[in-house]
Amino acid sequence: MIMIDKKPKTIGVMFDRIAPTYDKVNTILSFGTDRLWRKTAIRHLGIKKDQKVLDVATGTGELASLVLSKVQCTITGVDLSREMLAIAEVKAKNRGFSDRLFFINGDALKLPFTEHTFDNAMVAFGLRNMMHIGDFLDEIYRVLIENGKMAILEFSLPANPLMRRIYLFYLKTLLPYIGGRVSGNSGAYRYLYESVFSFPPPGKLLALMHTHGFEITAMKPIFLGIAHLFILRKKAL
Ligand SMILES: C[S@@+](CC[C@H](N)C(=O)[O-])C[C@H]1O[C@@H](n2cnc3c(N)ncnc32)[C@H](O)[C@@H]1O
Repeated sequence: MIMIDKKPKTIGVMFDRIAPTYDKVNTILSFGTDRLWRKTAIRHLGIKKDQKVLDVATGTGELASLVLSKVQCTITGVDLSREMLAIAEVKAKNRGFSDRLFFINGDALKLPFTEHTFDNAMVAFGLRNMMHIGDFLDEIYRVLIENGKMAILEFSLPANPLMRRIYLFYLKTLLPYIGGRVSGNSGAYRYLYESVFSFPPPGKLLALMHTHGFEITAMKPIFLGIAHLFILRKKAL
């Protein structure tokens, strides 16, 4: 079994290092499809005008910006990496979203908000970096209103054995090579392989989400199963 250091400090420093090239590498490695995946997540979440939305592990704020280009809501993005947030701030300003999009440097497992603050929450490619998935689900449960919804978009391994082998080869060899060349940090992209490989499969995640008080209203494999989208609703106690 691969042991990965997911301490907040380690993760924050790693993303600080790759922040300047993060968006560019994402587009290259996903062949430009990452934007479509985020759009699918947003469509399923169904955010409404003036709702309060939490974007956990917001990174450079791509998901939040996509939401604001469609719906006039208010979004708070939280992330461990100051450098990712610095880029997010500049992008939000350039896109004219500064009055609706706010950023906080912090840990998803210790959210600085009171109970029942948000109508919706979302997290794209952030969950597998967290030390304790259960603690994260508890935090989101706490800050969401009753019946509030959350979208989780995360990498997974394809169920089809051939696809899985091809994808693992890509993840283990090509991805660190290309990611390393563009970002100058192949370690971060080796971590990507390790974190995807050791992440619980969708069935296990579903069970965990149920245990932590959520009803699953949709689960959708994306791009032949290399990612999964989950839409959760906070059940009343
Ligand atoms: C792969 S990036 C995803 C960024 C963005 N959501 C996107 O879709 O491009 C993962 C982000 O999660 C952040 N992150 C990881 N663990 C976190 C935690 N415990 N609390 C807050 N942010 C975290 C990292 O700093 C990084 O910016």
